[in-house]
Amino acid sequence: MSTNMGTSVWNGAGRRIHMQEVGTRDGLQVEPCFVPTGDKIALVNALSRAGLAKIEVTAFVLPQAIPALRDAEQVLREIERAPGVVYSALVPNVRGAERAIDARADELNLVMSASESHNLANLRMTRAQSFQALSAVSAIARQAGTAVNVSLSCSFGCPMEGDVPQDTVWDWCARYVEALGARGVTLCDTTGMAYPGQVAALVRGFKRRWPDTELTLHFHNTRGMGLANVLAAIDAGADRFDASLGGLGGCPYAPGATGNVCSEEIVHALQLMGYDTGVDLEQLLEAAHRLPALVGHAVPSQLVAAGRRLDLHPLPADFDAIRERALARG
Ligand code: COA
Ligand code: ZN
Repeated sequence: MSTNMGTSVWNGAGRRIHMQEVGTRDGLQVEPCFVPTGDKIALVNALSRAGLAKIEVTAFVLPQAIPALRDAEQVLREIERAPGVVYSALVPNVRGAERAIDARADELNLVMSASESHNLANLRMTRAQSFQALSAVSAIARQAGTAVNVSLSCSFGCPMEGDVPQDTVWDWCARYVEALGARGVTLCDTTGMAYPGQVAALVRGFKRRWPDTELTLHFHNTRGMGLANVLAAIDAGADRFDASLGGLGGCPYAPGATGNVCSEEIVHALQLMGYDTGVDLEQLLEAAHRLPALVGHAVPSQLVAAGRRLDLHPLPADFDAIRERALARG
């Protein structure tokens, strides 16, 4: 984009960026307290009213592995379905797919890791076993007419193995896109190891290989590079991002994992740069402000703490006296 007719990543010029909310899945999965089912449903409804066009509502995983999401069925069944919104659910295996389809998920987000160690730690399977299970899931989804996206965890590095070779990432993408016909792929930076140059290279490499496949980037802000990575990805041609309300999130089976990039921070920044996110920032912020009461602690969002750029503060109470004293100095 930076070389295109004088436009640059800093000037969105009305370009659409698709924001996908993962707060009720990635965000809540790591919370020690159980957010009541009714509050989760109200949160999803608030997010769809705020204009998020895709929401990862929950995960159909082993309830003992992720107790915070043990109410997946009820949440997905009882949300209000806003027209046009895609309600997605994370699925690791056939049992998860059956549960998600039964609860009327619009999309199955299949999950496996690009790193063998993280896949074993998180999903108790080798990558080959995951691929076999997810191949069966794809067949079930096709029969049910349910869309399939694949999230490749640790695509930018593994907290236990270190760098993951790009060829490994391409190899797994090829299997899902070409062999299984997945509609989209999400390259996930599960523990915030991605950096801008690497992000640009992976986005360009993906778009060159699979120009017609929906590409999503999923960043965590673990090392403070979240927004820089989003901008690097946009500059390289990406237009679809996962983010989490309040900046909650993290994989409980990845050492050192912390929150996703924060939805309201990314929307705020992109709006200032002239991008069209389709999201109502005011409504999003209202939902974010309700989060601390839901999870029982402050959230990482700097926008919740500081407010928007032009949310101004009152003058000091003694402002007139200050001015008079200053003017009296001559
Ligand atoms: N939902 C509900 N129950 C499930 C299930 C699912 N998706 N997958 C398996 N089970 C049940 C099986 O039916 C079996 O039950 P049974 O003992 O009554 O027969 C039991 O769990 C064990 O099955 P198994 O296939 O051996 O699972 P496992 O113990 O090896 O766990 C996963 C594998 C993938 C199910 C589990 O590790 C998991 O859910 N991980 C998700 C982790 C996660 O969400 N991480 C964060 C997101 S990236
Ligand atoms: Zn994540």
